Amino acid sequence: MSHESTVPGALGRPAVRPSKPPAVPPEPAAVTIVVPTFNESGNIRQLLRRTAESVPARLPCEVVFVDDSTDDTPDVIRAAAPDCPFPVTVLHRDEPVGGLGGAVVEGIRAAGADWIVVMDGDCQHPPSLVPELVATGERTKAGLVVASRYTRGGSRAGLAGGYRVAVSRAATWLTKALFPRRLRGISDPMSGFFAIRRAEVTADALKPLGYKILLELAVRDRPGTVAEVPFVFEERFAGESKSTAREGLRFLRHLVGLRTAAPLARMIVFGLIGLSGFVPNLAALWALTAAGMHYLPAEIVANQFGVAWNFLLLERLLFHDRRRHRHWADRTLRFALIANADLVLRIPLIALLVAQFGLAVLPATALALVITFVLRFAGTEALVYLPRRRRGDRHPRQVS
Ligand code: GDD
Ligand code: MN
Repeated sequence: MSHESTVPGALGRPAVRPSKPPAVPPEPAAVTIVVPTFNESGNIRQLLRRTAESVPARLPCEVVFVDDSTDDTPDVIRAAAPDCPFPVTVLHRDEPVGGLGGAVVEGIRAAGADWIVVMDGDCQHPPSLVPELVATGERTKAGLVVASRYTRGGSRAGLAGGYRVAVSRAATWLTKALFPRRLRGISDPMSGFFAIRRAEVTADALKPLGYKILLELAVRDRPGTVAEVPFVFEERFAGESKSTAREGLRFLRHLVGLRTAAPLARMIVFGLIGLSGFVPNLAALWALTAAGMHYLPAEIVANQFGVAWNFLLLERLLFHDRRRHRHWADRTLRFALIANADLVLRIPLIALLVAQFGLAVLPATALALVITFVLRFAGTEALVYLPRRRRGDRHPRQVS
């Protein structure tokens, strides 16, 4: 990664503030504007011009671009920087780890000011709002100020097309439903435009993945008080959106990852995915028996469809970043063994509960279902997705 300060310390202020601020006189709030960019060369000058027009001289400011471009965006930034009344830095990453969210976290790490404003590089987030975001934070003593499209006075005017609007609405609703407490007071958790106090960010606690960095910050870093400022999501100045269907899948994975940080939540998602496996299981059973297969072998074959379905969903959503510890063939085999052992074990377990412990058949069956489910969850985590122990290791390696 190359980190270069094109205009270090313009306005007589170093690009990164010393860790100990001078005791007197009290400094006014300062802001680092973090702008993630991916092929935005046509927007840079406009963005910097509008930022320079909006930020008053009394608000010390620096702009940090975190760039993953494959075009000449970094050169355009370097060429435009000397015309700006504030320091402009570009951090170009050779590998776009974590996408947009990863870039923002890099920018936050490099930020020198107490306030960080995260803003897109295509002028859809009006730079004129930067001073108001910081002023609102100072006035309300908030740790996070969200620029919201969904609060009175805000609008999503520039969101292209009915399809994008519907997706954005559904995603907002789903996210708010999944994190009712952590997102209290945030009407637009999907916003990419916000101000956060540097002291509220624990960068090491973050695992950014794609677009929704505000959600990541709100859920994992839990900033104290939250304030909101309405904003109008404008049309793009130049170029086109980088958001794709693939980005949508990444978002779902991000949601599941955030929601399942605790084992109990993980177990619930594991169970929901398991329930959804009934559908392919029953469909296959229907097809096989309709094709004339005897129902007993058909049960066994159909079960494999459910197992395969569960495996694919778990791999994509729940255990996506834990797959690296074993080869995929190894994981598939282990998963299939555990899933089928469940079937084989359940009947003797029910017999044991009835004969030895005197349970009636129904409670015994229910209890056996619960026991085998918990065993299957624990077994899948431990035997398929935890790092292997190396010989002589007393503790398995750090799990991520
Ligand atoms: N560094 C980096 N790396 N920047 C990226 C990447 C990446 O992989 N992908 C996108 N960007 C940059 C773009 O260059 C742009 O400056 C900004 O991130 C937003 O990307 P867009 O592609 O323009 O996103 P959008 O307009 O569809 O959605 C934006 O606004 C929404 C409403 O506030 C995003 O900020 C969404 O997260 C947000 O919900
Ligand atoms: Mn955009």
